[in-house]
Amino acid sequence: MFEDINHSIDGGLYGELLTNRAFQGSNIQPGSVPGIAGNVIVDSENPTIPWGPVLTGWAPIGDVRMTLDTLHPLSKALPTVLQVDIPTNATGEVGIQNYGWWGMDVRPQTYTASFYVLANQPRYPANATTGFTLSIRSNLTGETWASTKIPSRRLPVIDYVQLNATIENTATAPNSNNTFAITMNASEVAGQTLYFDLLSLFPETFKDRPNGLRKDLAEALYNMHPRFLRFPGGNNLEGVSVQKRWKWWETVGPLKNRPGRPGNWNYYNTDGLGYLEFLEWTEDMEIEPVLGVYAGYSLDVYGSGGTSFPPDQMPAVVQEAIDEIEYAIGSINTTNGALRASHGHPKPFNIKFVEIGNEDWFSTTYPYRWQMMYDGLKAAYPNITYISSTFNENAAYNISIPPGAYWDTHHYEEPRFFLDGFDFYDNWQEETNNTGVGVFLGEYSVYQEDTPSGYINYSNPVDTHVFYPRLLSAISEGVYALGGERNPDTVKMSSYAPSLQNFNWYNWTPNMIAFTANHNETVLSASYWQQKMFATYHGTQTLPVTNSEGDFNPLFWAASIDEPLNVAYLKVSSPADMG
Ligand code: AHR
Repeated sequence: MFEDINHSIDGGLYGELLTNRAFQGSNIQPGSVPGIAGNVIVDSENPTIPWGPVLTGWAPIGDVRMTLDTLHPLSKALPTVLQVDIPTNATGEVGIQNYGWWGMDVRPQTYTASFYVLANQPRYPANATTGFTLSIRSNLTGETWASTKIPSRRLPVIDYVQLNATIENTATAPNSNNTFAITMNASEVAGQTLYFDLLSLFPETFKDRPNGLRKDLAEALYNMHPRFLRFPGGNNLEGVSVQKRWKWWETVGPLKNRPGRPGNWNYYNTDGLGYLEFLEWTEDMEIEPVLGVYAGYSLDVYGSGGTSFPPDQMPAVVQEAIDEIEYAIGSINTTNGALRASHGHPKPFNIKFVEIGNEDWFSTTYPYRWQMMYDGLKAAYPNITYISSTFNENAAYNISIPPGAYWDTHHYEEPRFFLDGFDFYDNWQEETNNTGVGVFLGEYSVYQEDTPSGYINYSNPVDTHVFYPRLLSAISEGVYALGGERNPDTVKMSSYAPSLQNFNWYNWTPNMIAFTANHNETVLSASYWQQKMFATYHGTQTLPVTNSEGDFNPLFWAASIDEPLNVAYLKVSSPADMG
């Protein structure tokens, strides 16, 4: 399960090494204030415009002045650029540098750099030419690990030019406190003003995809042997406002046309890892996409109950999802299939699973939204399995899920809940009148220690909250997963959540994998190994187990056979000695 939370995508799995590469927006801090229901923004990195652009992550080199500029936009989507003024008396090396996402891992490989640049005509002499040196440096010692030159050339003054270069690096930096620098010789640029935008530095990526995934983290995920990827959320699908929801069409195509958006997890998302990149990720990992489509409900940072589309405006939301699916699976003769082809992927993807919304029990409106979405999508794409984000979580209603469709149920709980839940799905279809309905354990993890009340405290008190997965987390999550495995007619899929946490900036714990910019600091948690073990050793049929004594608890088990391989698996999980 994947969404941009904890800087798991920007600053995480998305390979881009530069932070704030296009001055798109900044962080905010929500909170409550007395007398006002719901959250408000109580603090913002940009003090004037919450979510607004900032210079964070950038610093001058030599005698230059850096400001943000909106008079020379790169594109409609990227309206703010970096203005660099070089004084007339500047000498030596001048330029800009980026500190990366809390640093930059440097090891031998070929880096790919690019940026857009424009000269200010009144300040650009008729005979001027400009060259650039691109280098990766230590921020501690100033040592240059690798560099390359873009030869002097005349810069444009009307439309930006994109300059590209590769940097061959043979060094291994001793730590991740490194920067990326773009420098010029003051003898060429003194007295001038240059504008920069969409500055980018990529290392080699997973399966060598351009604009692809950070290799080591992607490999950690791949090595788990996942079967599917649910994306793009999670709350982050829904938007902090209806207007700023994850709009698939704004996440595809050339990066300069992607505006990004204020993410639901308090930082701006670039959407550099957009819809097509998510799909390519599933292709590269040979797994099924589980596409979460917007279902007419946004959480809204300001509201307590969120904002819902009224019934008469739902047809547009249904059409949005129909088009979105067409972008993935349509032939190149369809409008959106042709759009995908124009983005470099003529071959259609196969989408077998679509989830309608996310955790819609927060709203009172899912009964009509679910029905309209399900009916509209089923008519358009009858062979897809649809997943309801809600069944009975909202005390005001039960959703009627038709046979063949699934229910995505989420559990951030105590160990006891998962141990007690071992048999929850044994007769679930019959007991809940859900014959033929599948269950997707779409998000689960041990969230806090066992408490007398069992009440999950999302303010994360230090005495009970589980900040990082522990052995008891993995064991009890494993017991729950065993309960799913022995009911494969009901429990069809499961996934831990959230997947990734950047140690330098996060707003949810616990997470399956935690990391920093430094690839040597990645932590694969106990829950990661449990997930990997269960995914790797997974039969095609369950097998009966005859036990000579006792019954389940404190030992729990399930057995299966991989028929093509003729290998049987017996999985056991027990908290017996864990207290
Ligand atoms: O996984 C973190 C969040 O938990 C998800 O965004 C949401 O679906 C759930 O509430």
